[in-house]
Amino acid sequence: MKKYTTKTDLNLENKEVPLYAQIVEDMLAKISSGILKAGDMLPPTREWAAEIGVSRKTVVRATELLLVKGVIYSKERRGMYVSPACALTTSGGQAQSSRPMQVKRGQDADGNVSPAKARIVVNDGFPDTRMQPFREYSRAYRKIFNRMAQWRQLGYDDSAGVFKFRTALCNNLWKLFSINATEDELAVVRGSQMALFLIANAVLSPGDVVALESPGYGSAREAFTHAGIGVVDVPVDRHGIDADYLEQLCHDTNITAIYVTPRFQYPTTVTMSMARRQKLRDLSLKYGFIIIEDDFGANFTFSEHKLMPLSSMMSKSRYIYIGTFSKIFAPGIRLGYVSASAEIIRKIVDFRALIDIHGDTVLERAMLELLESGDMKRHIRGAVKTYKERMAFISTEIRRILGDDVDYAKPVGGLAVWIGLGKKTDANTFHTLMRAKGIDIPVFTLHDGSIGVRIGYASMDNGEITEVLNAMRSVIAGLQ
Ligand SMILES: Cc1ncc(COP(=O)(O)O)c(C=O)c1O
Repeated sequence: MKKYTTKTDLNLENKEVPLYAQIVEDMLAKISSGILKAGDMLPPTREWAAEIGVSRKTVVRATELLLVKGVIYSKERRGMYVSPACALTTSGGQAQSSRPMQVKRGQDADGNVSPAKARIVVNDGFPDTRMQPFREYSRAYRKIFNRMAQWRQLGYDDSAGVFKFRTALCNNLWKLFSINATEDELAVVRGSQMALFLIANAVLSPGDVVALESPGYGSAREAFTHAGIGVVDVPVDRHGIDADYLEQLCHDTNITAIYVTPRFQYPTTVTMSMARRQKLRDLSLKYGFIIIEDDFGANFTFSEHKLMPLSSMMSKSRYIYIGTFSKIFAPGIRLGYVSASAEIIRKIVDFRALIDIHGDTVLERAMLELLESGDMKRHIRGAVKTYKERMAFISTEIRRILGDDVDYAKPVGGLAVWIGLGKKTDANTFHTLMRAKGIDIPVFTLHDGSIGVRIGYASMDNGEITEVLNAMRSVIAGLQ
């Protein structure tokens, strides 16, 4: 295995580009020019720092950044290596900087915090927490807590989650989504994010490669890259992830897994077509990769036609299904679950036990009570009705206010809509111009360089929706 030549032309006089950033740039340049290749080993940080004459802290900072970006990965006690995904991305002609990115709330594209406070902060799809059955929940929580405390039941519990709660979740999965799981094929976690972290660290290994939707969910990307997993982007179009593009990738590289959001793709909201689902399933069988399905909007399909998860079409060894209560209930109540083969679930549970012996057993039992009493079902039914009306409202308003200036297709459900803005401007400029109007809105850049915004309409009232769209019209008019 070749070792990285640390010869780096640092400009010690350049105060504008910090030394660690110069090292990162140098690494990226060496990768894109082919001097550094996938699997090449980097020197230990102490040695590296001594060779180029900077402090070890500077080199450590650079490597941390490269790890987060997924450019390199580390192997326990063996060192750091150039990531296969990174080499593939650059040699495939897509520069690292062309990766789809999101301008996060309160920041510009460079991550600087915007100064002015926004009048309206548009989220990327929160539920309306004003509607949640909090009274029923707090009653159940109090009752269970008192009972457990009185009967001294607040000891350690199962790391996979409260057994009866798992039984209820398995029943729901079967009844609502045709996913067949037993209690040892399901683990309760604090939310989808924890599920992604556990998958990245306990199921996958550094050096594995995960294909991601582009544009896609940034927090999933971060969970994978942070664990030393390589990532490759696969474009998304109106039918979901581009399966032909993925097939091409599979010819050239070993894809270990693919992370997808088929129900309402994040951020574009498109629902993956049946043809794409079948092709993904076939490719998974042919090339042996696992499908990680994040079904975050599971209960919010508004059409009469029931929409089943992709996992329901797969054999157990081929998928990992992730569900969350963040959209049904509230993101602040940290609760989700993951279902897969018993072997995978065991790995996830064992790893979870290392950091958090188990979750909040009172919360799990309270949620179980809401499921069994029918309160949760009633709440979801009411929420679907309200969100469906709001979705109809925002769709009409988009047509009325923005008309043909934008690309809009009404999604079949979910708590957000997507408005494509083409190549009128770049994400940072659009975000800044909206901020100047007092509105903070998530803007994304697509694979082809066009941009779009994701509006979490479900937690907004009609007045706010109209105000945001009017501001967008005025910004778009100024661009033409
Ligand atoms: C794509 C996606 N998955 C999952 C979630 C939910 O994450 P969690 O369950 O950790 O709250 C979100 C929340 O915004 C999301 O956008």
